[in-house]
Amino acid sequence: MGVALVTGASTGIGEATAIRLSREPGTELVLVARREELLRSLADSLPCRTTYLALDLTAADAPQRLRAHLEAHHAGKLQLLVNNAGAAWRGSFAETGHPHVQRHMELNFDAVVRLTEELLPLLRTSAPSAIVNVASTAGRVSRAGSGAYSASKFALIGWTDSLYAEEKPHGVHVGVVLPGFVATPGFPATELREKALTRWIVSTPAKVAEAIYEAGPGGKAERYVPRPYALAAVARILAPRLARRVLTGGAAATLTTSTAGDGATRLQEAARSDHQERPTP
Ligand SMILES: NC(=O)c1ccc[n+]([C@@H]2O[C@H](COP(=O)([O-])OP(=O)(O)OC[C@H]3O[C@@H](n4cnc5c(N)ncnc54)[C@H](OP(=O)(O)O)[C@@H]3O)[C@@H](O)[C@H]2O)c1
Repeated sequence: MGVALVTGASTGIGEATAIRLSREPGTELVLVARREELLRSLADSLPCRTTYLALDLTAADAPQRLRAHLEAHHAGKLQLLVNNAGAAWRGSFAETGHPHVQRHMELNFDAVVRLTEELLPLLRTSAPSAIVNVASTAGRVSRAGSGAYSASKFALIGWTDSLYAEEKPHGVHVGVVLPGFVATPGFPATELREKALTRWIVSTPAKVAEAIYEAGPGGKAERYVPRPYALAAVARILAPRLARRVLTGGAAATLTTSTAGDGATRLQEAARSDHQERPTP
């Protein structure tokens, strides 16, 4: 298959994608995330040639460092770019405001655009090649408490559709994958997995990895995982009143899950208030 770069490869969907791609003949992998130790142990366990670069994708120099890495270690070739790294933090707009929206946009949208801009010349010279952007069904249907996350994924899907049309003549296929609930360290879906009524709607990182393969070298333009989640997107357009009723009713509360980002934020807030309550020496 050639050289494939996967962002967010230290855990969850990105890790499963690296494992899936490593099975394809002729694959060379580049793993990207912040936690170097996790990238190193995954690289050591894979059957194909694998390099990694630990960095924060929101850093100003991240795209240039990744391009330099590809030029130094993979002869400047890139057949597949998987823009998968992303995160979510819950909170209503009234409580969290613009900084919360900006935080989501920086990682889930701006970092993807900046990295793609830097690597597009390599993708074009390596064509036929592909880009897969990992969005979300939350990029089609928005719920209370996750407007900032949805905004970043709506933006990503809109931009991806345009890029698909622009890059087709250049031999760079652009696909988008829209996962629903998938149990990963970042999105544990604990509330859904605990109840027999909702357990079945939670999918696995391996299934999303297969969809990413289909949307990249396999040439599909769009894949929902699991596929029936596409019905939610259709209902949002064809039956907006019904969709709004469902999204503001009891079902919406049942489908509200906490994320690892929420946990980290709560810990940070607890540490801050603990610190503030201590008497100054
Ligand atoms: N799981 C779901 O239910 C679900 C549903 C729809 C869409 N998605 C999307 O799927 C993608 C993968 O999520 P996941 O479920 O696999 O979550 P995850 O297990 O938390 O993985 C997120 C990955 O992104 C990396 N990452 C986060 N911030 C980063 C940064 N600033 N710079 C570099 N890497 C960063 C993390 O690695 P480090 O912490 O080591 O940097 C990790 O490898 C995301 O785009 C998410 O929005 C997930």
